[in-house]
Amino acid sequence: MKGLTLRDVVVGYGHGSSRLVAVDGVDLEVPEGQLVGLVGESGSGKSSLARAIVGLVRPLGGQIELDGRPVGSFGGRGRPHPVQMVFQDPDSSLDPRMTVRESLSEALDRRSLGRTGMRAEIGRLLDLVQLAGDTADRLPRGLSGGQRQRVAIARALAARPRVLVADEITSALDVSVQGAILNLIKELQRELGFSMLLISHNLAVVRYVCEVTAVMYLGRIVEVAASEELARAPEHPYSRSLLGALPQLKAAANTAWLTLEAEAPDPKQPPAGCRFHPRCPVGPLALADRQRCLTEDPQPGAAARAHRAACHFASSAPLGQRDGLAPSQL
Ligand SMILES: Nc1ncnc2c1ncn2[C@@H]1O[C@H](COP(=O)(O)OP(=O)(O)O)[C@@H](O)[C@H]1O
Ligand SMILES: [Mg+2]
Repeated sequence: MKGLTLRDVVVGYGHGSSRLVAVDGVDLEVPEGQLVGLVGESGSGKSSLARAIVGLVRPLGGQIELDGRPVGSFGGRGRPHPVQMVFQDPDSSLDPRMTVRESLSEALDRRSLGRTGMRAEIGRLLDLVQLAGDTADRLPRGLSGGQRQRVAIARALAARPRVLVADEITSALDVSVQGAILNLIKELQRELGFSMLLISHNLAVVRYVCEVTAVMYLGRIVEVAASEELARAPEHPYSRSLLGALPQLKAAANTAWLTLEAEAPDPKQPPAGCRFHPRCPVGPLALADRQRCLTEDPQPGAAARAHRAACHFASSAPLGQRDGLAPSQL
């Protein structure tokens, strides 16, 4: 397949009894030119997965490939890596002492471009992210948060990436500029055709930008579907609770919603059976016929399926009918 393929990826930290498995066997595809969203609450392992994709952490297991080749075999020897990342906090990727021009220059190949080429390329990059040309001579502290994030995006684009991994890129920004950055990223994708893994704890953000949404819970992908379908007919109870927290989506969809009560479990000791069972509003703690969730780990189903959910009782039927709950319990 053309594009990014993750197979059984495992990312962990620490050793022995302090070992924490943050990503536990993730399969995911980001086909060429597609926008795939990854959503899940804080601590579910999204950033760990992102860092593994761009080589900032070494996975404990699994394969990460671009066009069927290990992603680590690309780049090097002055060649930019075709997978680039944009972080939540632009300040972490921009040196406060460097002008925008210097920051962008670092990401360009000075030798092949030459002085005039560099100037033109920096102009092109600023233009792409809709910043004025004179931004080039400013320092990060002279820019707003939104402008700094545009510079960080331009820096990632300097490598002419095939795949962009964008981790919570609007979370540190004022609400008023978040929409502008999301629109920019959508426009850039249309214009440049890269594929993207957009990571956010906010399902509304992912749905706004991405064609496909993957839902992550405690190190696992629990559901993958076309974003429209996920919003209309989510199958996993965790996805249904994420959607239920969004009033604008709740009204439009053909299902009943769930509310999550308990805290997320300790990732060092994930629950047996289905990891979601201690919090599942339609799981074994609520319904007598769901005892297998206590012991059997649900598999996400064939990767070839466009819509897959790792739940023993997943179904696209509306929740009330499926789970035999009275309306007052929903
Ligand atoms: N460098 C690290 N060392 C130890 N534990 C980590 C490290 N980075 C993340 N974790 C842990 O891994 C889990 C997943 O974290 P993270 O990947 O940041 O999730 P998310 O981005 O979804 O919030 C969390 O329990 C977090 O505390
Ligand atoms: Mg994160």
